[in-house]
Amino acid sequence: MKTVTVEAASGSYPVHIGRGLLSDPDLVAGMVAGKQVFLISNETVGPMHEAALEKALVAFEISKYELPDGERFKNLEYFSVLLDKMVASGMHRDATIVSLGGGVVSDIAGFAAACYQRGIAHVICPTTLLAQADAAIGGKTAINHSGGKNLVGAFHQPIGVVTDLATLDTLDDRQMRAGMAEIVKSALIADKTFFGWLESHAGEVLARDRQSLTHAIETSCRIKARIVAEDEKETGSRALLNLGHSFAHAIEAESGYRYLHGEAVAVGLLLAAEVAVRVGLADAELVQRIFDLNERCGLPTGIEGLDPGKLAKVMAMDKKVLSGKLTLVLPEKPGSVVLCDSFDPALPESVMREYCR
Ligand SMILES: NC(=O)c1ccc[n+]([C@@H]2O[C@H](COP(=O)([O-])OP(=O)(O)OC[C@H]3O[C@@H](n4cnc5c(N)ncnc54)[C@H](O)[C@@H]3O)[C@@H](O)[C@H]2O)c1
Repeated sequence: MKTVTVEAASGSYPVHIGRGLLSDPDLVAGMVAGKQVFLISNETVGPMHEAALEKALVAFEISKYELPDGERFKNLEYFSVLLDKMVASGMHRDATIVSLGGGVVSDIAGFAAACYQRGIAHVICPTTLLAQADAAIGGKTAINHSGGKNLVGAFHQPIGVVTDLATLDTLDDRQMRAGMAEIVKSALIADKTFFGWLESHAGEVLARDRQSLTHAIETSCRIKARIVAEDEKETGSRALLNLGHSFAHAIEAESGYRYLHGEAVAVGLLLAAEVAVRVGLADAELVQRIFDLNERCGLPTGIEGLDPGKLAKVMAMDKKVLSGKLTLVLPEKPGSVVLCDSFDPALPESVMREYCR
């Protein structure tokens, strides 16, 4: 088992990574302080992986709820349902929420943990590659609003993350590939050696080779933990984690979520690199390396069936538009990124036009 410690300003916690961890009788149980556990999963993941957890938590009073599966249920309505179920189950202030699922489940469960009785403990058991490498770390919780994705939320760090690699055995290949995009993003932001490693080992990670998978998840967690330790509430360097995301959120939304989040991020990384080349921050070789890595991971290298003009409009409404100016995170080379708002406002649209098919 590998352990990464997240040292956020509001508290530190372990991220354990290994195989078979959900059925370890001491691991999750050891993190729970009170007697009550509220287990939140969804209708897909629950039936596959809940039993192991329930067995390990047999000494506790367990109540549970399975959300319907999908990003569209990460909303106010189901947030309210969760709170209703917790109240009806008589959860006290010392209850612990244990969430089991991908980023959708950990985001809405985390927000419930942040709000219920002004904040209760949360243990995250992430079950997608994207959640294991990224979403479970750092304490951002959120639900979507009709006015935008992740528009309502809070910072609320979990008390621990238990990443059981065995849960990935049931995850489909498309979701594995989508998870790779956030791993590539982490490498591009902060670790050129890791980026080089991914160029030669991506296939092994996607094939779920145990050693490669552990290395990819652990390194990605360490990168995110380091950035969160510097800037928990995103007043500075944490914004760099948004590399590719201004493009990605527009692509996801405009495609009606036909693109998975990770797939949109993969294209977003490419577009951000292309913008960086145009403003003289990066060499064209960087675009080629990202393009090749996306191809190797089976991730998209272009935008299918979307209107670049509409994408640009959605980007203009992005949360990262500060005082009327779009700010983008741009890569200079693997391991080095900068925030940039000094580019021709028409540039993102013209770059997207070139990548539209
Ligand atoms: N809080 C953060 O820092 C952060 C960071 C990145 C992304 N996110 C959020 O995460 C969400 C995306 O997360 P995701 O990619 O994990 O998607 P997801 O949670 O929707 O999971 C993807 C699909 O895989 C299924 N699934 C999950 N685990 C499985 C398993 N082990 N076996 C079989 N099927 C399984 C789910 O039921 C779902 O259908 C988005 O809402 C995004 O906003 C949050």
